[in-house]
Amino acid sequence: MANKEDINPNTLPKHIAVIMDGNGRWAKMQGKLRTFGHESGVKAVRETVEASAELGISYLTMYAFSTENWNRPKYEINALMTLLVSTISKETKTLMDNNIRLESIGDTDALPSKCRRELEEAKQKTAGNTRMTLVLALSYSARWEITQAMKQLAHQVKQGTIQPEAIDEKTIANHLTTAGMPDPELLIRTSGEHRISNFLLWQISYAELYFTDKLWPDFRKEDLYDAIVSFQNRERRFGKTSEQLKSQS
Ligand code: IPE
Ligand code: IPE
Ligand code: MG
Repeated sequence: MANKEDINPNTLPKHIAVIMDGNGRWAKMQGKLRTFGHESGVKAVRETVEASAELGISYLTMYAFSTENWNRPKYEINALMTLLVSTISKETKTLMDNNIRLESIGDTDALPSKCRRELEEAKQKTAGNTRMTLVLALSYSARWEITQAMKQLAHQVKQGTIQPEAIDEKTIANHLTTAGMPDPELLIRTSGEHRISNFLLWQISYAELYFTDKLWPDFRKEDLYDAIVSFQNRERRFGKTSEQLKSQS
């Protein structure tokens, strides 16, 4: 397991994205309800946020609820929404104390009104914080996001405020819910599943992917350090050759 000291502070990823997976299996293994796994996952969220802020990561995006998760049993959705409201309201003080700004991506209009209000309040309260931005992906999916971006652009073309020829990669990025944020450089998924599950498809084009078998409620600071050390040991070539990179440095 890596220590904090194993990390090179000069080559940190600016943005880390996390697919927090495995809460249900973690609970089942102990003969408990899946919802107990979600509750136990909050500690892992706290550890990851704290460790990221201490290291100096600028953006941390956490996948908390996907568009597809609306298809889960109603009792589980309700438990997750209740947990969301209570966690956000409890943790706002910690975010303030640690100078962390809260943001969200996703179709938040789909959330229950209590959730939406709590989220908006926490976002407003923390809006001036500058140490790190914590982005919660809620009712999020990449295909939903790309679809709404395409709709907005189609409207603008129809109104004549943008010419089709003027649309480039920047225009598209600016219409995604992550507009203004750097792309994640490191994507972590827990629970041993090797898939993306509709998360940030556009933004992770060149992210380094890191998979661990740890189930989300067991994820601790050292697990984040392991992921970052792995990231720092990789050669990011962006289409070039290894020789080209070496001659540049
Ligand atoms: C991740 O854990 C949390 C959410 C998707 C909300 P899961 O609930 O997916 O847990 P597993 O994957 O079934 O173990
Ligand atoms: C992905 O986990 C979504 C979140 C972590 C919020 P899932 O557990 O929903 O993913 P799949 O369905 O197994 O791919
Ligand atoms: Mg899962």
